[in-house]
Amino acid sequence: MGLLTGDTLMTLALAGAVFLLLLDLMHRRSRWAARYPPGPTPLPGLGNLLQLDFQDTLKCFNQLRRRFGDVFSLQLAWTPVVVLNGQAAIREALVNCGEDTSDRPPSHMHEHLGFGPRSQGRGVILAPYGPTWREQRRFCLSTLRSFRLGKKSLEQWVTEEAACLCAAFADQAGRPFLPNSLLSKATSNVIALLTYGRRFPYDDERFFSLMRLLERALKDDSSFWHQVLHKVPALLRIPGLADKLFPGQKAFMAMLDDLVNEHKTRAPDQPPRDFTDAFLAEVEKAKGNPESSFNEENLRLGTTLFTNLSSVLKDEKLWEKPFHFHPAHFLDAQGRFVKPEAFIPFSAGRRTCLGEPLARMELFLFFTCLLQRFSFSVPPGQPPPSDHGQYAFLVTPAPFQLCAVPR
Ligand code: HEM
Repeated sequence: MGLLTGDTLMTLALAGAVFLLLLDLMHRRSRWAARYPPGPTPLPGLGNLLQLDFQDTLKCFNQLRRRFGDVFSLQLAWTPVVVLNGQAAIREALVNCGEDTSDRPPSHMHEHLGFGPRSQGRGVILAPYGPTWREQRRFCLSTLRSFRLGKKSLEQWVTEEAACLCAAFADQAGRPFLPNSLLSKATSNVIALLTYGRRFPYDDERFFSLMRLLERALKDDSSFWHQVLHKVPALLRIPGLADKLFPGQKAFMAMLDDLVNEHKTRAPDQPPRDFTDAFLAEVEKAKGNPESSFNEENLRLGTTLFTNLSSVLKDEKLWEKPFHFHPAHFLDAQGRFVKPEAFIPFSAGRRTCLGEPLARMELFLFFTCLLQRFSFSVPPGQPPPSDHGQYAFLVTPAPFQLCAVPR
């Protein structure tokens, strides 16, 4: 130890700094390629992490788009990222080059949450493009189809949920209220019916905790610290760090596990009541087959990936009134229905949303039920709902007040 004089320490520190800088430059060498998209200058080690606003990623991307164009690059720690905006670039990537863009990066954060190697970490949404994703996507589509046609069809479930939603709106007796939480509970109940075969009353304590934890987990997923740990996974080895930074995520997974465990009581000769039963039946069938992706680690479906679809859906060059409810967007000169190419809320290409038919049915039944029963207005003195969505992994409407007066 005596040999470590001030001079030696200084030399070691300098050598360490030079080594780290060289390592950093090596990770950033893709930027030197001639056709690499432009982007903000990254800092050593952190890249552009400190220059991004994770509270409002959409706004931040729009600003960068104005500066660097539709296709720009970012450096998130040592991970190079290219952000695509606008119809042409997104279509080219998702549809024309679907084979090259349908993969998903490894998700170390999800492994930390208990997704083991056999799940390949991520259900369907985050699964790498390959046999596991194909097997899981096929299973989801055929199970969804069978529930649509089953004894009690999905349509009946959604209609009953719409009636509960209308009843909860009627309870407000025309007074101003925040509809966001009721709307989330109603759409979550459709997923709960599908996956667990039951709905939760809107005032159920357990449902309330599940929703709060989900909201928290989604916020955490798009936070600065999530990006840091995702890009520098070695930090996940620091005992307790991830649990301290994201206390909600493990609690949310534990609640889902409880719901799954409640399903294990079904007699094997009974038909599956819901998605979880159907999945557990596949797990039983796949026992002893190490190739199969049907294992309980995979039952914890992952969350979703970000694509800047808003840059197309709100493009003023493509839509006459992108921020208004304007049915003429979907009508041709003769008043016939048309689906514009730019209408891609469910994405496009191979990884397009597999819940689209259910989501459309839900939107249709919820809206028609609500509009038939109530007249809606903004309470006096309140601002109209903002057209600027809140970004927390998903884009959701900012809270707004509403009066629902029975017709
Ligand atoms: C209005 C409601 C919905 C919208 C706007 C929506 C939108 C999307 C989008 C944009 C993607 C692509 C994500 C990516 O780039 O990887 C996606 C994927 C997906 N969605 Fe939806 N979704 C909705 C409802 C649903 C529902 C109700 C379900 C479940 C039944 C669902 C299940 C999925 C799944 C499993 C994927 C991943 C597909 C894959 O990677 O192969 N979605 N969704």
